[in-house]
Amino acid sequence: MINVFINGYGTVGKRVADAVALQKDMKIIGVSKRTPDFDAEQAIKKGFDLYCVEGADVDAFKKRGMETNGYLKDIKDSVDVVIDGAPGKQGAKNMELYKSLGLNAIFQGGEDASIGTSFNAHANFDKNIGQKYIRVVSCNTTGLARTLSCLNEVNAIKKVKAVMIRRAADPGDNKRGPINAIVPEVKVPSHHGPDLKTVLPVDIETIAVKVPTTLMHLHTVMVDLKKEMKREEVIDLFNNRSRVILVSKEDGIDSTADIMEFAKNLGRNRGDMYEINVWKDSINVKDGMLYYIQAVHQESDIVPENVDAIRAMFDLKKRDESIEMTNKALGIL
Ligand SMILES: NC(=O)c1ccc[n+]([C@@H]2O[C@H](COP(=O)([O-])OP(=O)(O)OC[C@H]3O[C@@H](n4cnc5c(N)ncnc54)[C@H](OP(=O)(O)O)[C@@H]3O)[C@@H](O)[C@H]2O)c1
Repeated sequence: MINVFINGYGTVGKRVADAVALQKDMKIIGVSKRTPDFDAEQAIKKGFDLYCVEGADVDAFKKRGMETNGYLKDIKDSVDVVIDGAPGKQGAKNMELYKSLGLNAIFQGGEDASIGTSFNAHANFDKNIGQKYIRVVSCNTTGLARTLSCLNEVNAIKKVKAVMIRRAADPGDNKRGPINAIVPEVKVPSHHGPDLKTVLPVDIETIAVKVPTTLMHLHTVMVDLKKEMKREEVIDLFNNRSRVILVSKEDGIDSTADIMEFAKNLGRNRGDMYEINVWKDSINVKDGMLYYIQAVHQESDIVPENVDAIRAMFDLKKRDESIEMTNKALGIL
């Protein structure tokens, strides 16, 4: 049994906590918060032991009637791995703490790639076996890795070009924008291509823009094919890959709004959509180029990846076994 501590119980941290709690071979032994808010209260109600983020004020929690159990350093001897769910770039600062406590850690995509080995379950599980510090790549990179790893496994990719249409903020975030503008990432190509290369060795360039929506990211992907492929072969590849699902206008799925409504109908925790959704209608091969459009639920696609990263870190299971266990526990298609 692997004992997992969640340092930073926010958008990603709380989802990973719930997912880990559903696995047979790991358990949550604590979660930490800096602010004594509703998330902290609900963590306690769920039965998680609540801790304070290093430097946070225990008295502030007491004043709000919340019992905390101290700091990560107080239970370090019982922790096998910390999932760092801190805001982007804070993880790198937390690394000093983990090193001083002798703890293994899994970081998120807001950290630089140099923090550890980069991880995506389908793309490079084996490279992460036995690593002490792992970074689960970002939601966008995970989205690219999910579908492009299928194509790479059949040696179909000469070069990829992709446009990332990014959500401005998460639904619960009232501080970020834009709320009425489209913001281009003027560093062209964007960082997403190099980030994908940390998990998948493909030739790729990306361009990114930010739009006023909170639901999902959307990617338009163009693949210069190395070999002849029929549209049906690509459909089969995506159909046979877990964590990728095909959606269609025929089924009434016209937009990211429909996908998130579909996700709610699935009755999952928080209405999450762990899978990357590819519009079947958009898959087309023309003059040696493959085109498709996919949508990424930024808050949750990285959740199963964190679970598999734990199994890779401790060499608990082989890639496909781990993916299957995680999928089963989370009801992933
Ligand atoms: N949100 C997404 O869509 C998404 C998707 C993929 C990857 N990521 C990456 O995941 C990481 C976390 O993002 P998030 O969206 O989950 O952030 P978030 O919602 O802002 O949550 C961050 C959490 O970290 C806590 N925290 C604050 N300072 C901390 C510290 N020094 N050490 C540990 N925890 C601290 C916060 O506590 P309080 O709330 O108590 O103040 C909060 O619970 C980032 O690297 C981000 O780039 C995010």
